[in-house]
Amino acid sequence: TKIENFNKDLLNWYDLNKKLLPWRMTLEPYKIWISEIMSQQTQVETVIPYYKRFIDKYPTLRDLAEADDAELLKLWEGLGYYSRVRNLKSGAQQVMNEFGGKFPTQINEIRSIKGIGPYSAASISSISFNAPEPAIDGNLFRVTSRLFEISDDISKSSSRKIFDEKLRVIISQDRPGDFNQALMDVGATICHPKSPKCDVCPLKDYCQSFQTGNQENFPVKSKK
Ligand code: ADE
Repeated sequence: TKIENFNKDLLNWYDLNKKLLPWRMTLEPYKIWISEIMSQQTQVETVIPYYKRFIDKYPTLRDLAEADDAELLKLWEGLGYYSRVRNLKSGAQQVMNEFGGKFPTQINEIRSIKGIGPYSAASISSISFNAPEPAIDGNLFRVTSRLFEISDDISKSSSRKIFDEKLRVIISQDRPGDFNQALMDVGATICHPKSPKCDVCPLKDYCQSFQTGNQENFPVKSKK
């Protein structure tokens, strides 16, 4: 089927071209969580050394829950958005208290952890627990809007559901975490906001906006 071929082409591309990121060598939810929170407002290439230092100093969730605040903030220096690291420690304490120190496996439980929003919850669920949950960040909004020519304004919070429903239909049931990360890499390395490199895109045969030449008209975004 078309959906099977889409996944075959996307995942073959990913296997050959994926970014070699340190958190792609593990499925541990604690480490995926750290990497996703760090990567939210920061480019992944910048995140790499911060991630390594963080995991060296706090190798387990318990270590983070018991971290010294001053040392923790020192490790975060340069990444900015310091509420993220405060939430990480609170979240780690919450997992110790509410889940007996074991990272929860269900997306609704994961979503209940302090600082974890819909994107991070889907990311951790799909990567660590193989749940077919679309992890929609800025890159995924752009790639998906172009694939399906979705004209809903991505600045509106109500649009997430539209994108989520489209992606749920096509997400790989075998490798949902790799599906999400493959689309993130396509977004970061090919499907740029300006002048996307459609000639080398693994998805061009499936991309509605490429067929009509409208790739640069998506996504639709009111707020800047
Ligand atoms: N950006 C945020 N999380 C990412 C991931 N797991 N892979 C690639 N880019 C990302």
